[in-house]
Amino acid sequence: MPAPAPEIRVLPAAEAAVPTLLDELRRVVAANERPLVSFATGGTFTGMFTALARELRDGGIGRDFVATHLDEYVDFPPARAGGMVHELVTGCPPLGDMLAAGAFVPVPHVDDAAALAAHAQKLRELGGVKLQLLGIGRNGHIAFNEPGTAFDTGFHVATLAEATRQDARARFLPGEPPRRAVTSGIATILAADRLVLCAFGAAKADAVRGMLQGEVATGCPASALRRHGNLLVLLDREAARGFDAAADQASAAP
Ligand code: PGA
Repeated sequence: MPAPAPEIRVLPAAEAAVPTLLDELRRVVAANERPLVSFATGGTFTGMFTALARELRDGGIGRDFVATHLDEYVDFPPARAGGMVHELVTGCPPLGDMLAAGAFVPVPHVDDAAALAAHAQKLRELGGVKLQLLGIGRNGHIAFNEPGTAFDTGFHVATLAEATRQDARARFLPGEPPRRAVTSGIATILAADRLVLCAFGAAKADAVRGMLQGEVATGCPASALRRHGNLLVLLDREAARGFDAAADQASAAP
């Protein structure tokens, strides 16, 4: 039986996604005992992390969850600028407190199969990811699963696509962006209970169309998400431009 179709919401602007994302987190924290929540990094989530920092400080969202995230550059320990953990704790300082308290499980920053297996095992011991936030690359990648990545992968070390390095270039200037990262695999991502993917801006429109209406195939890693069955997609109007909502309705009809 095919998985239930993703729920797609087209928002007037990116900021409109923030209350929805916070509600998703609130809901998962209320419904589970210390759920594991996996965050995504990148410009897409900057606004959410600012708001989340406020909520965590004010108690609007309790800290009774365990945080983790999708991926980390090889050789970027948490304190190293440019890395994903560094971005998360800078953008949302309460996550830094959680890291210090052991309530934030960072993705290993080493090319070491045993460390990656131990990380995956730790996530399983914590009950598995209950809520996974996701961005999408303009080439259709999710986390660092670049086009061509098999759908059955777990945590692994990925080589970044040129487009991905180009998009990351500004954060590493005057240096070069990294070439390799430890990433959740597509199978890791599909194992989460609930997925919420955000895409904003015209540069994402082709990738969004590939994800929602292209062939489910490794050429567009995000297309694998259509196999999940509990996926919410939040788009702004620009990112939704290539997505034909009418065709989607027609193909969803019995
Ligand atoms: P962005 O990155 O949020 O910076 O656009 C998303 C991604 O590449 O997955």
